Amino acid sequence: MTDPDLRAFALGLPKAELHLHLEGTLEPELMFALAGRNGIPLPYESAGAVRAAYDFTDLQSFLDLYYAGCAVLVTEQDFYDLTYAYLARMADEAVRHVEPFYDPQTHTARGVAFETATDGILRALEDGERDFGITSRLIMSFLRDLPAESAAATLEAARPYGARIAGVGLDSAEVGHPPEDFAAVYAVARQRGYRPVAHAGEEGPPAYITGALDALGAQRIDHGVRCLEDPALVARLVRDRVPLTVCPLSNVRLRVVDTLGAHPLRRLMDAGLLVTVNSDDPAYFGGYLTDNYLAAARELRLTREDLVRLAEASFEASFLSEHEKAARIAEVREYARS
Ligand code: ADE
Ligand code: ZN
Repeated sequence: MTDPDLRAFALGLPKAELHLHLEGTLEPELMFALAGRNGIPLPYESAGAVRAAYDFTDLQSFLDLYYAGCAVLVTEQDFYDLTYAYLARMADEAVRHVEPFYDPQTHTARGVAFETATDGILRALEDGERDFGITSRLIMSFLRDLPAESAAATLEAARPYGARIAGVGLDSAEVGHPPEDFAAVYAVARQRGYRPVAHAGEEGPPAYITGALDALGAQRIDHGVRCLEDPALVARLVRDRVPLTVCPLSNVRLRVVDTLGAHPLRRLMDAGLLVTVNSDDPAYFGGYLTDNYLAAARELRLTREDLVRLAEASFEASFLSEHEKAARIAEVREYARS
C-alpha cells in the first residue's frame, strides 16, 4: 500500500480515543486568542515561538509548559472552545467516541472553579455528540504530585455531576508518586461508580502498573509501556485483558523511547496485549490521533490489518456498553472490507 493510500485508509478508519488530555489540545493559536480575550500576558511573541519552545527532555519539562499554558483557560466558554475544537478535528478523522481527561486541580489551584471547567467541557461534549455524532465519557484526573487530600476534595466537588463524569484517572509527575498513595480516594471513587484508570509505567517502573491494578483497581492502564520489563505482569495483563492506552508520539517527545522505530508498540501487540493508540497531548507532541496511527505504521511497519486491530481495540477497551462496542467494531470491520 502506498503512503497516500495508507493515510486515507487510517483517516477514514472508525476509531476511538481513550488517552487524551483536553488541556493538551491547546494549540498555540487558541492560547493566544484566549490570552487576548482574558487579558493574560504570554511570555511569547507568536504561536511559532510557542511551538519552538516545545523541546522536551522528559515528562517534567513538558508538564512545566503544559501547566503554564493552562493559565489562559479562565471562563466556561474557554473550556468549551478548547473541547469543541478538539471534537471538530476528530470528526474529520472518523473518530466516533472519546474518553478524554481533564485536570480539575490545575484549574481550582488557580482560582478557576471546578464548575467552570466542568460545565464548559460537558457542554462541548454534548454539542459534539449532537453536531458530529461523537459519543464521550469524561474522566477527571487527579494530579499525583499533589496530596491525596486534594484528590479527595476534587472527588467531593464532582458529586453534583453524578454519572456525567464517568471515570477517575491519575496523571502528572509519575516517579516518586506511586499509586498506593491514592488507594483510599480510588476506593471511594469506585464505590460511587466511577470507572478507575491510571497513568502507570510511562516513566515509572512496572511496579507502578501492578500498584495501579492492586491498590487502585484500575481497569485500564494509561501508557503502561514499561510492563515489558516484567514478564509476569505482561502475562497478567494479557490474561485479564487489561487495556493499555499507548501514545507513540508522546513517548518519543518525552524521551520515554529514543525513536519511534524503537517504540515497543509492536512488541506489546505481539505479546497479545489489548493495546490502543492515542495522542495524549497532541498540541504539544506534533500529532493527533491519525498522525499517531500513521507514524507508528510507517516506523514499525504496521499493516492495514494491524491498524484495523488497533481500531477494534480502541472500542473494545472503551467504557461503551457491550452493545455499543459490538456495533462500532462491526463498523470497523465493514470499513476494512470495503
Ligand atoms: N498530563 C498530561 N499529559 C501527561 C502524561 N503524558 N503523563 C502524565 N501526566 C500528564
Ligand atoms: Zn497522558
